[in-house]
Amino acid sequence: MNQPATGPSPATDRAAPVLALSDVSKSFGAVRALQDVSLSLRPGEVHALAGENGAGKSTLIKTLAGVHRPDGGQVLLDGRPVVFHGPADARAAGIAVIYQEPTLFPDLSIAENIFMGRQPRRGLGRIDHRAVREATEGLMRRLGVELSPDRPARGLSIADQQIVEIAKALSFDARVLIMDEPTAALTGGETARLFSVVRTLRDQGAAVLFISHRLDEIFELCERVTTLRDGHLISSGPLTGLTEDDLVRRMVGRDLEDLYPKQDAAVGDVALSVGRLTREGVFRDVSFEVRR
Ligand SMILES: Nc1ncnc2c1ncn2[C@@H]1O[C@H](COP(=O)(O)OP(=O)(O)O)[C@@H](O)[C@H]1O
Ligand SMILES: [Mg+2]
Repeated sequence: MNQPATGPSPATDRAAPVLALSDVSKSFGAVRALQDVSLSLRPGEVHALAGENGAGKSTLIKTLAGVHRPDGGQVLLDGRPVVFHGPADARAAGIAVIYQEPTLFPDLSIAENIFMGRQPRRGLGRIDHRAVREATEGLMRRLGVELSPDRPARGLSIADQQIVEIAKALSFDARVLIMDEPTAALTGGETARLFSVVRTLRDQGAAVLFISHRLDEIFELCERVTTLRDGHLISSGPLTGLTEDDLVRRMVGRDLEDLYPKQDAAVGDVALSVGRLTREGVFRDVSFEVRR
């Protein structure tokens, strides 16, 4: 098992994967959260991870982030097997995870949160506040956002806190940015700003793994999508040519024809017609028809 089980498809093979999972399995007691799942993240792409609740998305992320060790299979960094003994190992390898609700230190400034524990110092070990501030301004410029380095974290919106976390990832030279449902608590405007930051990072060569229940966001932001269902890899490939319905079917896993088996009937009768079906947080305005 020294080789990745699945290579990139020729059509999307623009750059070698920076981070990959090869046939990874992970169980919690009797629960098989991931079974033989492979996935590769390339520099300069935003990759969506889709699946219903319980599909294994967070387990996959935690495996990439060094929180979980796989029971089987491998994590590959620059094509080589790597073992992360903890989150610090993954961070040192350039992998940053942005969670839905970041936890900054409320009494510290934005700049202090970003550089905590590694502030530039001057003589007598005193923190060089000006250098910290300037470095933070540089990070914000790179992200194309305006946030004063001196503002305390207390009182920042969740969206701004996420930006601070992203700036922190950038300060660690992260090459892979993993975002677990980052837009769940954001307004439309905040989501647009986050997407603009993500695109900026992508254009600077980062690989981004983006988890969202919202299919419109996936289609807007991402180049490729991997779908998981019940811990199994269902598909991984370009979004081009896929419809939202295709994606829903992969996530939910049942062609409606399986739910309503074919009966003797004239071919072409509409057996079921669904118009603008919405399941809060999962899919929106999905319409389709099933014919016998
Ligand atoms: N630490 C854990 N202990 C026990 N079961 C877990 C743990 N983490 C996840 N699971 C189980 O693994 C499955 C996948 O969960 P998860 O990766 O959180 O899915 P998702 O993020 O797609 O909703 C679920 O059945 C969940 O209950
Ligand atoms: Mg989850």
